[in-house]
Amino acid sequence: MKTISIDLNKTEGFISSSEFKKHESQVMLCQQKLHDKTGQGNDFLGWLNLPSSMAPSELHRIKNTAARLSKISDIVVVVGIGGSYLGARAVIDALSGSFDTFQKDRQHPFVVYAGQNISGDYLYELLGLLENKSFSIIVISKSGTTTEPAIAFRVLRELLEKKYSSAGLKDRIVVVTDSKKGALRTLADREGFESYIIPDDTGGRYSVLTPVGLLPIAVAGYDIEKLVEGALSMEKATAPDMPFDKNLSAVYALTRNLLYKQGKSIEILVSYHPKLHYLAEWWKQLYGESEGKEHKGIFPAAVDFTTDLHSMGQWIQEGERTIFETVLSIEAPEYKLEVPHDKDDLDKLNYLAGKQVDDINKMAELGTLIAHVDGGVPNIRISIPALNEYYLGQLIYFFEKACGISGYLLDVNPFDQPGVEAYKSNMFALLGKPGFEKETEEIRKKL
Ligand code: PA5
Repeated sequence: MKTISIDLNKTEGFISSSEFKKHESQVMLCQQKLHDKTGQGNDFLGWLNLPSSMAPSELHRIKNTAARLSKISDIVVVVGIGGSYLGARAVIDALSGSFDTFQKDRQHPFVVYAGQNISGDYLYELLGLLENKSFSIIVISKSGTTTEPAIAFRVLRELLEKKYSSAGLKDRIVVVTDSKKGALRTLADREGFESYIIPDDTGGRYSVLTPVGLLPIAVAGYDIEKLVEGALSMEKATAPDMPFDKNLSAVYALTRNLLYKQGKSIEILVSYHPKLHYLAEWWKQLYGESEGKEHKGIFPAAVDFTTDLHSMGQWIQEGERTIFETVLSIEAPEYKLEVPHDKDDLDKLNYLAGKQVDDINKMAELGTLIAHVDGGVPNIRISIPALNEYYLGQLIYFFEKACGISGYLLDVNPFDQPGVEAYKSNMFALLGKPGFEKETEEIRKKL
């Protein structure tokens, strides 16, 4: 089996090899802190060994639930936000056909998402879609109290109950939540809904390899065993006994931190395939919530090329030199499609006739890489042999591990998110939530 790889050639003009060497031992110490559980947030390190500790019986159960839901549903609505949604969506979108929405005779239910926003229009339109379809709900929330999914779940449950009566709810709702606390745990236990546990020691954004990600991915028809197998291979490849230069996560963590030290405070994740859009959304959350604290942290941004070369390309080429790029490069796209010959050649494209569209995409990638490096933008390149479950599993674990190391290099706790509470408290005050009377008074003065 091949493996994902990292190419740092195009950072060489920006980071000297002596600088790199100087920090290697510090990086390895940060990694050791993760494994010894001696760093900040050390009660949230369950994700480190998820692939190797995955019980086959858990995967089996997830697959059974997925098969059961598939039998009774045209659509499965995954209700969740942040880490309780993005990992599943990243993998499902990466593996799905771009136009699967229109596919008739599907073998697996169509997965849609709710609870990742509070838009009334979005929910209303979703209700319209579900009205005449058979559907089920997987509701995912570790705390069980997050406002966005709680509202969506309440609205969708009402429709489910109308369509299938309360007896039908039992078959059509699966809960993924904490083992003991929260409203969802109480509800699942009281109503006898099938439920899965999010491990106490695994935070939302590191939970894609738990039922949080695995159940929706299995429902969509993808191979969760291969995903875990890929992650396991990366767990081994980044184990503490691996030398620094063979440990992709350590190398990536150090490179981005050295660039950050030089004032490159924005990292742009680049891909040339629209299917990777949500992988970048997942990555943005992973790094944004893990590192952006104590007024520190690289700002994680993302672009879809070549689309965004026609919108953001100018800024990246010639704007403020505070950016670097990390390019996700797929070595072997799935399909082959040739540019046809045209006898009139009005568009002067005959020089491309017979070439694969993806070979042209690759030349756009290389041309852009060189242009951006020449323009003062360091580039890290991550090559993915092919877009499948195995390599996505590798990629997920690679980024998670690098994020943990990188957070420790920055000297922040990469496993909490205290800043997320500020908007919630203001929103609750503005909505008049009981218990927020004092905050309501305060916030009115600021309006
Ligand atoms: O990474 C995290 O912990 C967060 O992004 C959470 O996943 C997100 O806020 C959703 O929380 P919950 O699963 O409790 O609804």
